[in-house]
Amino acid sequence: MTFRFDISARDGSARSGTIHTPRGDIRTPAFMPVGTAATVKAMMPESVRETGADILLGNTYHLMLRPTAERIAALGGLHRFMNWDRPILTDSGGFQVMSLASLRKLTEEGVRFASHIDGSRHMLSPERSMEIQRLLGSDIVMSFDECTPFPADEKVARASMELSMRWAARSRDAFGDRPGYALFGIQQGSVYRDQRAESAEKLRAIGFDGYAIGGLAVGEGQDLMFDVLDYAPGQLPDDKPRYLMGVGKPDDIVGAVQRGVDMFDCVLPSRSGRTGQGWTARGPVNLRNARHRDDPRPLEEGCPCPACRNYSRAYLHHVIKADEIIGSMLLTWHNLAYYQRLMQGLRDAIFAGTLDRFAASFHAMRAEGDI
Ligand code: GUN
Ligand code: ZN
Repeated sequence: MTFRFDISARDGSARSGTIHTPRGDIRTPAFMPVGTAATVKAMMPESVRETGADILLGNTYHLMLRPTAERIAALGGLHRFMNWDRPILTDSGGFQVMSLASLRKLTEEGVRFASHIDGSRHMLSPERSMEIQRLLGSDIVMSFDECTPFPADEKVARASMELSMRWAARSRDAFGDRPGYALFGIQQGSVYRDQRAESAEKLRAIGFDGYAIGGLAVGEGQDLMFDVLDYAPGQLPDDKPRYLMGVGKPDDIVGAVQRGVDMFDCVLPSRSGRTGQGWTARGPVNLRNARHRDDPRPLEEGCPCPACRNYSRAYLHHVIKADEIIGSMLLTWHNLAYYQRLMQGLRDAIFAGTLDRFAASFHAMRAEGDI
């Protein structure tokens, strides 16, 4: 059983299909809940599965520092450690080390840094990142890259992209041949079309099992991101999964799917749930707002999640205001269920050839707002 991507339907630039892995199928377009520290915060893994998730994302950077990749390997790997037996994709650490670590020193070799947890000194390189992701037992391994900050002028962006492409080749060599496991390359090039094309060409020449679009959702805004997504997916191989890293809000995902993206990850549904934001077809709802104090209705009518089946907005308002743990649990569950319902809607619409109508109705519902 090896890694394979089958596209079963197309609608415009959008595609729907299945990524087959030895640990199970991933229906695309797919949303991957973020389980940074070997947990999707506030959720049991079986509950994450109940929301409809086929795959989780884990982080090289966090797990190498605590509890360490070697410890997880000795305990049977990340799947067994966190009790999730379906596919796991791990980010390579390049992005997190630049946003979280201190005393960072970036060289051709890799990044030396001090841990944000205890200040201990570590190094990440393409070779070390591949070793850590192998020790974790990750099913989809990301190549080690630098997420080019935004804004970056053409010269800075080019130097960063070229470094990431050299690291991509080293990642490919270090990963080797591991049947059943996949290695994804990551396109960089900031907002420059020629650099994105060159990056795609370099990745294609190296050869990967899937291709990510990196360096977006870093402050450029949705208009500029969609400008890049008007051409970036088309620069990548058509027959391999395309993954837009770190995206995003529901409307970002709808627009990116329409432009040919197959996979997404974002902390938004889980993180914003813990701060009292509930995502619905009518847009985000702030449960901290006093208007919910006496409201007996569910957060979202018809949502089959436990938060909506069993509790009122008034209760959610109360437990969030009181900082009760169940508030985080219920809103995270609802938000992940909402995201997975959105992905199922996108997949169904692609199959039916009605994606544009789906998107129009998605935007119309949100325009009505929460009432
Ligand atoms: N997460 C969000 N953007 C990026 C990126 O460009 N590279 C990596 N490795 N992770 C990301
Ligand atoms: Zn719900």
